[in-house]
Amino acid sequence: MQKRYFLSALMVGLLSAYAGTAAAQEKFKIGLILPMTGPFASTGKQIEAAARLYIAQNGDTVGGKKVELIVKDDTSAPDVTKRIAQELVVNDKVNVLAGFGLTPLALATAPIATQSKTPMVVMAAATSSITQASPYVVRTSFALPQAAVALADWVPNNGIKKVVTLVSDYGPGIDAEKFFKERLTFNGGQVVETLRVPMRNPDFAPFLQKVRDLKPDALYVFVPSGAGAALMKQFAERGMDKAGIKLIGTGDITDDDILNSMGDVANGVVTSHHYSASHNSPLNKKFVAAFEKANAGMRPNFMAVGGYDGMRVIYEAAKTTKGGSGDALLNAMKGQLFESPRGPMFIDAQTRDVVHNIYIRKVEKVGGQLYNQEFSTIPDVKDPGKNK
Ligand code: PHB
Repeated sequence: MQKRYFLSALMVGLLSAYAGTAAAQEKFKIGLILPMTGPFASTGKQIEAAARLYIAQNGDTVGGKKVELIVKDDTSAPDVTKRIAQELVVNDKVNVLAGFGLTPLALATAPIATQSKTPMVVMAAATSSITQASPYVVRTSFALPQAAVALADWVPNNGIKKVVTLVSDYGPGIDAEKFFKERLTFNGGQVVETLRVPMRNPDFAPFLQKVRDLKPDALYVFVPSGAGAALMKQFAERGMDKAGIKLIGTGDITDDDILNSMGDVANGVVTSHHYSASHNSPLNKKFVAAFEKANAGMRPNFMAVGGYDGMRVIYEAAKTTKGGSGDALLNAMKGQLFESPRGPMFIDAQTRDVVHNIYIRKVEKVGGQLYNQEFSTIPDVKDPGKNK
């Protein structure tokens, strides 16, 4: 009797010791897929830095589990993003997929999220339709129509009637063109020409020559984060500003990551966007200072904020679900309302898309550095693309 008691006590002891190690090893895994090399590496660098800052500030344990951040470079090739996502889901059994630096990368992965019921937090890509590609997508970046419509409302009241549009020829560029043109036309303005340039390594010269000949009041541009500097340089070289053509666009063209290196041609450029590193709030000042300190002075751009807020959405959902996954984790992401470095931010439970302020900004020199200075706020903007 005594011996049997002893044996079963030993068994219980062994089992709980085993369970103890299992619990200690239980992890909450975040698979972060980003372009870390190639032409869009600045997006990957910004988002990875923001995710690491979030973890440093909020701890590496959440919902009782140890956080494991697995960062993978997809080189901005959609088939690579998709393969990595598959591996992260099947082999690593991640609780959540995150990142997605460009629209085609997010769209390639959406079916994997749906099939495996894995929440997919889109921190960068911004074509309106991405949230409809899978019910597991939650977006913390922005949607291009939010910015495009806001600018098209500002333009006709500020002496600009005739506009030529120039966009990258893929999802976000087409959204930027379509929603700007529709709204400007509705507001009594005119888009006299729509130009589309290749997404990768565009040569703007022939397009800019055409714009010069058309002599519009303004040239409205969307190019993805990182490509704005080349556009700005060629705009100046062709003397477009001297010819009286104003440059306007979504804030992607005056990206905080490279704005300071663009020089005087960027000074005075008016854009619309959801984030500026000079956004005037105590929370943003703290965020920018901490980000710059942790990254050798690198200024955070809107990609960093998409990554930082994405981590917040993931952490809060992990807390609510005690490190959960699948539908439970997804549901805990929906409806989150909080203050972001960008301002107030809301994840609409119906659309799983971000609702936030859009600001009209002008590039100005502050303390010898170029910044997007916000001067007008359109509050709580939902994606106008969702009403179509
Ligand atoms: C996108 O591919 O969706 C994208 C990339 C960069 C941006 C905006 C949108 O700045």
